[in-house]
Amino acid sequence: MQYGYFDESTREYVITNPNTPAPWANYLGSPEYGAIITQSAGGYSFVKSGAAGRLLRYTFNQFDEPGRYLYLRDDRDGDYWSASWKPVGKPLDAYHTVCRHGLGYTAMDTEYAGIISKALYYVPMGATHEVWRLTVENPGAVTREISVFGYCEFSNENNYEQDMVNLQYTQFISHTTFGGDHVLQHINEFWDRQADGTNGRERFFGLAGAQVASHTGSRAAFLGRNRFDAPHAVETGHCDGSECYNGNPCGALHTALTLAPGEKRTLVFLLGQKNAAQARALIDRYAVAPEATVQAEWEALKAYWQGELAALRVHTPDERFNAMVNTWNAFQCFTTVVWSRAASLIYCGQRNGYGYRDTVQDIQGITHLDPAMARQRLTFMLSAQVHHGAGLPLVKYSHQPGHEDTPEQESYVKETGHPHYRADDALWLFPTVYKYVAETGDAAYLNEVIPYADKDEGTVLDHLKRALDFSFHHVGPHGMPAGLHADWNDCLRLGERGESTFVAFQLLYAMRILQELLPAGDPYQQTLAEQSERLLQTLNSVCLESDRYIRGFTEQGAVIGSGADAEASLWLNPQSWAVISGAATGAQADTLMQTVFEGLNTPYGLQVMAPPYRYGAFDGARMLLFNPGTKENGSVFCQPQGWAILAEALLGHGERAFRYFAESSPASFNDNADLRGIEPYVHSQFIEGADSPYAGRAHVHWLTGTASTVMVGCVEGILGLRPTPKGLVVSPAIPSAWDGFTMQKTFRGKMLRITVQNPEHRESGVTRLVLNGSEHAPGVILTEELQADNELLVVL
Ligand code: GLC
Repeated sequence: MQYGYFDESTREYVITNPNTPAPWANYLGSPEYGAIITQSAGGYSFVKSGAAGRLLRYTFNQFDEPGRYLYLRDDRDGDYWSASWKPVGKPLDAYHTVCRHGLGYTAMDTEYAGIISKALYYVPMGATHEVWRLTVENPGAVTREISVFGYCEFSNENNYEQDMVNLQYTQFISHTTFGGDHVLQHINEFWDRQADGTNGRERFFGLAGAQVASHTGSRAAFLGRNRFDAPHAVETGHCDGSECYNGNPCGALHTALTLAPGEKRTLVFLLGQKNAAQARALIDRYAVAPEATVQAEWEALKAYWQGELAALRVHTPDERFNAMVNTWNAFQCFTTVVWSRAASLIYCGQRNGYGYRDTVQDIQGITHLDPAMARQRLTFMLSAQVHHGAGLPLVKYSHQPGHEDTPEQESYVKETGHPHYRADDALWLFPTVYKYVAETGDAAYLNEVIPYADKDEGTVLDHLKRALDFSFHHVGPHGMPAGLHADWNDCLRLGERGESTFVAFQLLYAMRILQELLPAGDPYQQTLAEQSERLLQTLNSVCLESDRYIRGFTEQGAVIGSGADAEASLWLNPQSWAVISGAATGAQADTLMQTVFEGLNTPYGLQVMAPPYRYGAFDGARMLLFNPGTKENGSVFCQPQGWAILAEALLGHGERAFRYFAESSPASFNDNADLRGIEPYVHSQFIEGADSPYAGRAHVHWLTGTASTVMVGCVEGILGLRPTPKGLVVSPAIPSAWDGFTMQKTFRGKMLRITVQNPEHRESGVTRLVLNGSEHAPGVILTEELQADNELLVVL
C-alpha cells in the first residue's frame, strides 16, 4: 500500500494516508534544540541531549505517544478532532489530511467538519525554542465557535531515564504556574536558585495570537481517566485551571475562537526551556504579527536547506533515485553528521558522544554538498585521534583536544564505557580526508596542524601516518591487521590475535590514498608501496578462496567465512572492499562480485553474510545474540549496500550498481510500504534478511551510516562524479536502458552543467567528453580548464 509521495518541487514527502505502518518521522532544529516529529505529531524535544536534556516525554515502544497535540472542538455540538490525524483519529472518509515532511519542518493540512486547519511545526534557524503554528479557517457560510487546545507533555526533569523510572523522586520536584498566556514549569525551584529567582530549569508552553480561555499544568487534569484520543478537558470544552504540584506536568492552553464565514485565525504555540522573562520576550515577539513572523522564519529555514542541497542536482529517468539523491538521502546525511546517533524513535539519546567511525563516515555524505562543514567536522574528528594513531571509540560531546583521557585510563572507561580500541576507526579518515581534498582542491589542508586527543599535535598527513602506525602495531600471526574489539562490524570481536580481512583491505586502501596525497618524491611513498605489496600477497595467499575472500581469523587461528563452512560462509564486505581498495581487478573482481550476487542477494538487497549463525559461531561472533536474518546476523545490513553499489560501479557494472540501489532503497518501497514498515524516504540500518519470517521489514531509521555510504555509492558510483586532487572525473555506471541524464554540480566554486548521453545503451565507459564545446580526452578535467560556468557533454 502507498501512503504518500515525493514532491520534488517542494522537496517534501507528502503523506496522504496518515495510517502508516509505523510512525514516520522528521527532524526539526539541531541537537542544540532538537525535535523529532511524526505524521501524528508524536515525538519529543530536548536541549543538547535526548537523554540528559529531555523536555518532552515520549514513550518508546508504544506506537507513537505523546506528542505535540493540537485539538479542535466544535463548541456547538462538542465534536472534536486533532490537527494531526491521531491522537483523536477521526474516520478518514470524513477527515481529510495531508502531512508534509519538509526540510526542517512538518506541516499538516486538514479539513474536517467544515473547518480547515493548517499546523506547521519547526525550530527557527539557530533558535532554542520550537514553534507550532496553527491556522484555523471557516470556509463555510455560517459562523462557527471553535475551541483550540494545545497540549505538550513535559518530562518531570531533563534526565529521561529518571523521568521514566525514578518516580518516587521525579514526581515531586516539579510544579507549574500560569502566566496569563503561558504555562511555566519549575523544576527543583529552590535549588540552584539565582539572584533573579530562576535556576535555568524552567520550561514554558505559551500562546501568541489569541487569548487563553483556560489552562492546566496538570496532565491528570487534562486527560482525566481518558487517553490522548479523548482528553477530559477537550471533551468538556475547557481546562480546569489546575496546576501541577507533584505528579505529572503538562502545558495545556485553550483558546475559544469565533470564526465568521471566511474568517481565518493564526495561533502560535511556543515551547522551550526558558524562564518567565525569556518566555515573555518570545511570546511578545510572536504576538506582534504572528502570521508574518512565522512566514519569515519558515522562509529562512527553507532557504537555508535549499542552499545546503544546492551543490548537486540530478535529473535521471528514475524519479525515486532523483528524490533520494537530491533531497532525502542528502537531508539524512546532514542529519546523521549533525545528530550523530543522538536521538530518534529508536535511540533515546543515551550515547553521550560521537562514535569515531560513524562520524568520520557520516562526513563523506555531505562533503560534495557542504565542504566547509565537512572540513570543520573532519578537523574535530582528527583532534579525537589518540597520539598513537587510534581513534577514540567514543568522542565526548565535551571533547577537549589535547586534554582527553583515553581507553588506557580507568577514567575514560568509567565515563564512556569503552575499554578498548577498534581496528577500523582511524582508517576511515583516509577516504574522508581524500574526499575533502579532492572536492575542494584544498591540498594545504594536509599541512594543517591539529592536536591529538590526549597529547602532541601534527599535520593532517602526520595524523594519517600515525593511523597507519597503529594498524601496523596491531597485527596478528599472518601479519594482517588484528580485529581488536571490533572492526566495522561491531559484532566481530577478534582481539589482538584474530585478524580481519576487511581491515586489511581498508589498510591497503589507506596506503593507496596516502601515496596519492603525499608530495611527489616523498620517500615514504616507497615504504607504503612495499608494505602494500606485502599485505596484498598475504591476503592473496591466506585469505583468498577461488571465488571469495574469507572474513578473517579467530583468536585461535580458525578461518571465518570459508566457502566450506555450514554457516557464515560468505561475507559481503571483504568482496566489495577487495574491489574498492583496488586489490582485486579485472576477472578476479568480477568473480568476487558475481559470488556476492549469487550468494547474498535478496529482493531487498545484499545480506551482510550468509547463512546466519545458529549453531556454529565462534567465541567473539556476537551477532549470535540476534535472531537469524537480523542485524549483523545475516540481515540486509544497509550500510554495506553503498559499498557494493560503489564496487559494481567502479567495475563499470551499471546494471548491478543500480539494481543494488533499487533493491534496498527506501523509495523503492513507496508503493509497498507495509512490507518495509518505516519511512520510505529514509534509509534504515538494516532490512530483515531471507532467514527472517518477515524478510523485507526495515529497522532503525534515520541515524545510520547507510545514509553516507549509499550517497557515496550513488554520487561517485552510479553518477560517476569522482573528484581527485587535480580535478574531476565523470564516469557514470548506469542501467543500460537509460538514454542519459543531466546534473548540475558546483565544483570548487564553479558551475558544471553536465549532460550524459547513452545512445548505444551501455552501462558505463566514457567514449566522448566535450567541455564547453571542445573535445576533451576522457579522464580528469583539471580545475584550470573550468570556467565559472561550464557545459560538459559526456557520451557513453
Ligand atoms: C551500527 C554501528 C556502526 C557499525 C555497524 C555494524 O550501525 O553504529 O558503527 O559499524 O553497526 O556493526
